[in-house]
Amino acid sequence: MAIDDEKLEDVKKEFQIDPDILRATAGAMRYDMRLGLEGDTGSTLKMLKSYTHLPSGDETGEFVAVDFGATNVRAMLIHLLGHGQYEVVRKVSEPLAKPGEYDYTDEASSAEDMFDFVAGLVDKAIDGDHETEYKLGHTFSFPSDQADINDARLIAWTKEFKTKGVEGQNVNELLADALKRAGAANVKPCAVINDTVAALLAAAYLHENTYIGSIYATGFNDCYLEPYAGKAEQPMVINMETGGFYKVIPNRYDIMLDEASEAPGEQRLEKMVSGRYMGWLYGLAISDIIGKEGDFGFTSIDISNIVSDESDDRHEAVRILSEHTGMSFSTADADKLQDLGLVVIRRSAKLAAMSWAGIIWHLEGEQGEIRHQHIAVDGSVYRKMPRVKEEAAQALYELLGDDADKVDIIPADGGSCLGAALAAAMI
Ligand code: BGC
Repeated sequence: MAIDDEKLEDVKKEFQIDPDILRATAGAMRYDMRLGLEGDTGSTLKMLKSYTHLPSGDETGEFVAVDFGATNVRAMLIHLLGHGQYEVVRKVSEPLAKPGEYDYTDEASSAEDMFDFVAGLVDKAIDGDHETEYKLGHTFSFPSDQADINDARLIAWTKEFKTKGVEGQNVNELLADALKRAGAANVKPCAVINDTVAALLAAAYLHENTYIGSIYATGFNDCYLEPYAGKAEQPMVINMETGGFYKVIPNRYDIMLDEASEAPGEQRLEKMVSGRYMGWLYGLAISDIIGKEGDFGFTSIDISNIVSDESDDRHEAVRILSEHTGMSFSTADADKLQDLGLVVIRRSAKLAAMSWAGIIWHLEGEQGEIRHQHIAVDGSVYRKMPRVKEEAAQALYELLGDDADKVDIIPADGGSCLGAALAAAMI
């Protein structure tokens, strides 16, 4: 097939964001943060309290940590040694869905099925020890209304999860009940936090001057340390649920994707940024270019593999594109669809950086002096997707100017379990 250049350019334009629009969007993010903190329903950000602050670095002891939030569930026994040091004693990890075997994210699964599976992993992490009393910290990466550090109720599933009977429930009660059923009542869930909060706590345990945490993976979200969390409240980490922000202009593929998604109208920014949706958007754009209906089931890993194919004949890119669309492509076509992948990636990274600038402006004022600081970013998209780091850094420069030099983005790789253990230790 020969891709029409004009059509391609037209589609690529849909994913472009002018610097002025990006700046205005970061301003709108800052505005919604303030509204959300005041409890104004006009905000598209939930601004959820986490009931936790930052660790001192001196936390010690042995804790069970559970990381529940996307494709894999992880359970660990972690020994915190203080001075920012820790040791993983034991670690287990299993996917929530194995094609043809089970799928705990599906509507045919119940809350009990899902949490029994998690309890089974915890039991392995403690090596079947039903005697020692353990405190468990739980990273639960979905929007949850929190009444205290151990009471989080799932507001609504995101990332296309559909399991019945969890929405509206206290997730640590569900986990505690499952642990009892597994004979592991000696493990007591005592803290539940969002994965952004876990990334922030984990990074702050190791580095001073870290106030913002972000997850850029299957889902997308940020949190930060709010100095004025409410009247008479101590500084507290706020889970923004940035994925729900929608003062951002969708293109025609965003609109199509949203309409076909599990929860239309929700998580509009997440659907433009995160790994769960990038492949889907890419497929919809390709469909428009090649004039064949479908979304073709591309994943963000497919985009990564397509854009990083540097071979002369682009054979890997051609193979993936043909496999998904059922069409044949020349090397020149593959080149063009690599460019399309890059614009999808670039927009995602710009919007992620836009949210970080919005938080910095909220904390420091748009004209204020920006502190030297780290932003802790965890997640497979940030870590592995080609060009994401560079594009996000470039967008931060567009938004913050030279002050971007004061902002150091640090990977908070695998911080979810460490963060969960810290949350349990800080009680
Ligand atoms: C959830 C957030 C989570 C993010 C990253 C989103 O879908 O709503 O709570 O932090 O994914 O995992």
